[in-house]
Amino acid sequence: MAVIIDGKKCAEEILDNLKDKISKLEKKPSLAVILANDNPSSKIYVDNKEKVSMELGIKSSVYRFDKSITQGELIKLIHELNADKNINGILVQLPLFEHLNSQEIIELINPKKDVDGFHPINVGRLNCGLEPYAVCCTPKGIIKLLKKYKINLVGKNVVVIGRSNIVGKPIATLLTNENATVTLAHSKTKKLKEITKNADVIVSATGHPKLIKADMVKKGAVVIDVGITKQINGKLAGDVDFEKVKNVASYITPVPKGVGPMTIACLMENTYELYLKQKA
Ligand code: GUN
Repeated sequence: MAVIIDGKKCAEEILDNLKDKISKLEKKPSLAVILANDNPSSKIYVDNKEKVSMELGIKSSVYRFDKSITQGELIKLIHELNADKNINGILVQLPLFEHLNSQEIIELINPKKDVDGFHPINVGRLNCGLEPYAVCCTPKGIIKLLKKYKINLVGKNVVVIGRSNIVGKPIATLLTNENATVTLAHSKTKKLKEITKNADVIVSATGHPKLIKADMVKKGAVVIDVGITKQINGKLAGDVDFEKVKNVASYITPVPKGVGPMTIACLMENTYELYLKQKA
């Protein structure tokens, strides 16, 4: 049976450490969060980000909008937040309402306040092997988990499934920077099973429950599940057929309590780190 990677515990350690550091600061870090979508999952994520910020002593201001928000109003808000010396991090929860252009908004965020690491300057720096102001939270959290469990990546065959800007592409880059041999598979990939069967590490970020079955996984492989899909029964499902795959893998992340808590811990860490960089 695989070792179950405890993302919740690892995240709590990061948060405890941050709480301690923040408690010693006279002026506290601050995070602005924009929610312009009525998607229930996005609301839950944003509420959770607000709650954890408060527990840590990070000041969070959440801007919640209904469908009447215009692109122009959002642009104006980003300019105000960029200019506000009391704001260290800006997060635009994705996706935005369909009538809004999220890429234009992301590109207007000051890269030094881009707590998600989504701005092309930060993505570009990551791709060049330079230090970005912030690294995308979920990919950063995955690397931290792999390191915590001392999983060696050098020269390993890693298959990432999903090519989103939020997870797939940046985790492929981070793993490449860790000297893994990375294959980036996606919805148009042919013969996925042949590719995953060869993988020492599988990172799945598709949102398709039970996409990764036991017969797609090599014995002893490490399986990282980034999928979070809310099922009809209200429970969360990952991309991986956990109950069966755990008998084949050497390490596996559960859903929930795997990658999810690490995303939020890394968001808090990024907020704190941006605060320090802006103060320096
Ligand atoms: N939507 C899903 N994941 C994320 C994330 O990490 N950051 C933002 N801003 N939106 C998201």
